[in-house]
Amino acid sequence: MDKFIEVINLTYSYRPGNGNEVKALNGINMKVFKGEFLAVTGQNGSGKSTLARHFNGLLKPRSGNVLVGGFSILDKNRLAEIRKMIGMVFQNPDNQLVSSIVEEDVAFGPENLGLPPETIRSRVGWALETLNIENLRRESPNNLSEGQKQLVAIAGVLAMKPECIVLDEPTTHLDPRSRRELLEIIIRLNREEGITIILLTHFMKEVVFCDRMIVMDLGEIKISGTPHEVFEKTTEIVRLGLDFPVATQLAAGLRGKGLKLPGNIITTEELIAQLCLLK
Ligand SMILES: Nc1ncnc2c1ncn2[C@@H]1O[C@H](COP(=O)(O)OP(=O)(O)OP(=O)(O)O)[C@@H](O)[C@H]1O
Ligand SMILES: [Mg+2]
Repeated sequence: MDKFIEVINLTYSYRPGNGNEVKALNGINMKVFKGEFLAVTGQNGSGKSTLARHFNGLLKPRSGNVLVGGFSILDKNRLAEIRKMIGMVFQNPDNQLVSSIVEEDVAFGPENLGLPPETIRSRVGWALETLNIENLRRESPNNLSEGQKQLVAIAGVLAMKPECIVLDEPTTHLDPRSRRELLEIIIRLNREEGITIILLTHFMKEVVFCDRMIVMDLGEIKISGTPHEVFEKTTEIVRLGLDFPVATQLAAGLRGKGLKLPGNIITTEELIAQLCLLK
């Protein structure tokens, strides 16, 4: 696979103004490949959002570098291009909504790209349809729930048709059904539209669908690999304060009761298939 993002020895610390320095990232090295679905997880404060904010140059490394499509985020002349390639969806949708009507909000990004009006119209329609929120088209974002606002914010990013979308805990405000639906949409965008996805999440249910995942702790990458590889490292997972997927927990409980199940079960489908084999 082609390399899309390359993070080289990235170090970052916040300087909150009281003279203190808060070290948030400590020598991160990683790559993101074109078309992959990467999940980033780790406890609160482990550095996930700080890392993500470097992908489109919102934060600048204290040392090291980040290359996107071969361009450095430190190169001011390339920043606009980098931001066109990478769409960001933040934890709090309020910071991202700018217009008083949903469809205008979703059109904001494509308008800034200088696209012709017909293209903008069709992209807005497509984004609203993809996220199943056409019914909100003429609403004011102020009158929407947090979850609905988050979907509008995602539609705005999608309408710009970026090569890569970075989503920082996008399902925090969503109910279980909307959470499931959004995950399905994310998977579809990745598999059908070929959009590279970087999903920051605390939900192991979401992590199991990715191609590759990284686990962060204290500003460092502590584990990386496919979800199957990562969840086999049980002691480390517990030490890093993570959960196991429900199917993994169930399988461990059933093994404890004497059922002969393999150790690498992470999805409900895998658990069902293995249970059927026992008959
Ligand atoms: N604006 C800020 N000013 C000062 N310190 C900050 C700021 N934002 C984050 N930090 C610190 O940087 C470290 C990494 O924070 P970051 O927000 O990247 O973690 P996170 O993994 O995204 O956490 P969460 O799961 O809670 O979203 C933490 O120690 C945090 O306290
Ligand atoms: Mg965060």
